[in-house]
Amino acid sequence: MIDGCGREIDYVRISVTDRCNLRCVYCMPEEGVPLVSHCDILSYNEIQKLAFVFVKLGIRKIKLTGGEPLVRKGLPDLVKQLKQVPGIEQVTLTTNGLLLGEQMENLALAGIDGINVSLDTLNPEIFQQITGNSGVEKALAGLFKALQYPQIPVKINCVPMGVPGQDLTELAGLAKEYPVHVRFIEMMPIGLGKQFGIRKEDDILTELERQYGPYEVFDGKLGNGPGHYYTFPDFKGEIGFISAISHKFCGQCNRVRLTSQGYLKTCLQYDVGVDLRKILRGGGSEAELMQAVANAIGQKPVGHCFGEDAGEHVERHVMAQIGG
Ligand code: 5AD
Ligand code: SF4
Repeated sequence: MIDGCGREIDYVRISVTDRCNLRCVYCMPEEGVPLVSHCDILSYNEIQKLAFVFVKLGIRKIKLTGGEPLVRKGLPDLVKQLKQVPGIEQVTLTTNGLLLGEQMENLALAGIDGINVSLDTLNPEIFQQITGNSGVEKALAGLFKALQYPQIPVKINCVPMGVPGQDLTELAGLAKEYPVHVRFIEMMPIGLGKQFGIRKEDDILTELERQYGPYEVFDGKLGNGPGHYYTFPDFKGEIGFISAISHKFCGQCNRVRLTSQGYLKTCLQYDVGVDLRKILRGGGSEAELMQAVANAIGQKPVGHCFGEDAGEHVERHVMAQIGG
């Protein structure tokens, strides 16, 4: 499927719940998000049905997100259902890791193709400060459990916040010791993220170089997204950066997003897209769903304009409702 700007769209991020067992300060309000009743959330069968539609339009990769996807009951069952859709080449998961230790085995059995663990710090106090939770040990246990499956690639995503003690060097060190890529995601001014500044890629690289020695640009391709990577001496994994503001990549955007309530969002910054739940539950045929998805993708915005006035269609949800 080619959008209105000539970009090939082959990747969908599917949020399976708004709920989360953490309260990261840049993502989730302390009181949580307004509770959505279960019947307003797409069922696994509905999500599978949409996957059949997406695949016909050229989507080949799915990322399951939240909130925290593992708080939704039976997530490995959904992975299994999506892996059964012919043409879907990859089903991956992004998680904060807290429930990964107990669910990794079933995820692996279901055929999960990759896991991203969101982890901003290894320091228990700073973890508590950022997430409102004392569970850094649990998150790490989840990460290490995932690393016991060498056939399943694992990445770590960290949002640098410039808080003293976050220690990005220590976090990056995980890629020295273990075969994981550690990626630094630039804070995006969406929802609660608006109140924070960003830490510059160059500054982080200089900090890492001081500890780990000179880096080189990694010119292979990793993952489905817009990350760019660097190799440090004797590291088992690469160090990546995803910088939506300072290295704007809208021109290469390959993705759309489905919210847990079945709204297909075609750009992170705007509320534009189409309500697929309405069509699904209104008894719409597969052809109607395909047409609706194709129209929405055809009108996908050219790109974000963070820092400028986005106008009436600016996104008003927090990240936990969008899924990153
Ligand atoms: N900017 C960048 N990343 C964010 N995330 C949540 N909010 C923001 C933001 N404002 C990240 C989380 C997680 C992923 C799902 O999205 O840290 O890694
Ligand atoms: Fe939960 Fe992830 Fe948001 Fe943190 S960033 S509150 S772990 S959804």
